[in-house]
Amino acid sequence: MLIAKTNLELHQILSLQSSNKLSIGFVPTMGALHQGHLNLVKRSQKENDFTVVSIFINPKQFNSTEDFKKYPIKTQEDVKLLESINCNLLYLPNYEEIYPQNGQNIAIDLEELNQVFEGPQRPGHFEGVVSVVYRLFELIKPNKAYFGLKDFQQCKVIYKLKETYFKNIELVFCETTREKNGLAMSSRNSRLSEKGKILASQIYKALLDAKSKFMETNAQSHLAKVSEKLSQHNIEVEYFELANAKTLKPAKVWQKPNENVILTAVKIENVRLIDNIVF
Ligand code: PAJ
Repeated sequence: MLIAKTNLELHQILSLQSSNKLSIGFVPTMGALHQGHLNLVKRSQKENDFTVVSIFINPKQFNSTEDFKKYPIKTQEDVKLLESINCNLLYLPNYEEIYPQNGQNIAIDLEELNQVFEGPQRPGHFEGVVSVVYRLFELIKPNKAYFGLKDFQQCKVIYKLKETYFKNIELVFCETTREKNGLAMSSRNSRLSEKGKILASQIYKALLDAKSKFMETNAQSHLAKVSEKLSQHNIEVEYFELANAKTLKPAKVWQKPNENVILTAVKIENVRLIDNIVF
């Protein structure tokens, strides 16, 4: 696997690919890779000639410096994992390569997306995501880019970025990879104790429970009951709510089939976890 740490190295490698007319698939990450990330890479490998993964812990998207400082760094393990699945190129930039002169936020209208769910909980988060993905798209110029539906709202934000600035890039949104017990894989899970991980498996169970009564009951009261059950497990629920899966507008009643999304954010052992289910 090739590793590029500077934009010059990146450019040299990528211009060779484009002069050979090879299609480029791109998977942006913040490292501490797990099977969820690797599944995105494998999907890209199936659909492209050359796959690039980036690892960059983007300070601009952390609204808490404490969370940023605690973000796991596992570069050596990540390199081994990517080599084991024959990834073509790892882009491993430092701050200056991504944000020369500290970088301006990218102008984009996130109005409505910023007003719901993660938006108010994490001020500045999505602007930070947009800034880094804009820069990465600009540097890598992929044909296709891969994102996980685990971060459902992020997928909507990235879609808006594509529509505004990168119409030629095809976005591929991939299913959430879960542990056997249903817990959505996340780099943050490594901060949970064994007990915390078991407790966290209740999140997906609650989402399945909420989905199971789809159409049968009043959505609002059913969701409130399921959310209450989570709280009884000592899980701190920030939100557990229904929205329209197309628009992400919060909804009070069930939507048409395939247009429901229940989104949740909880805290366990002071680790913030998000998940969702679409049906
Ligand atoms: P990170 O959390 O490292 O995730 C990188 C990509 O992997 C994202 O598209 C995320 O949705 C996806 N992913 C994470 N866990 C997953 C799982 N269990 N199943 C499927 N996909 C999963 O998301 C980010 O980094 C950053 O915000 C980034 C887009 C890289 C911008 O900095």
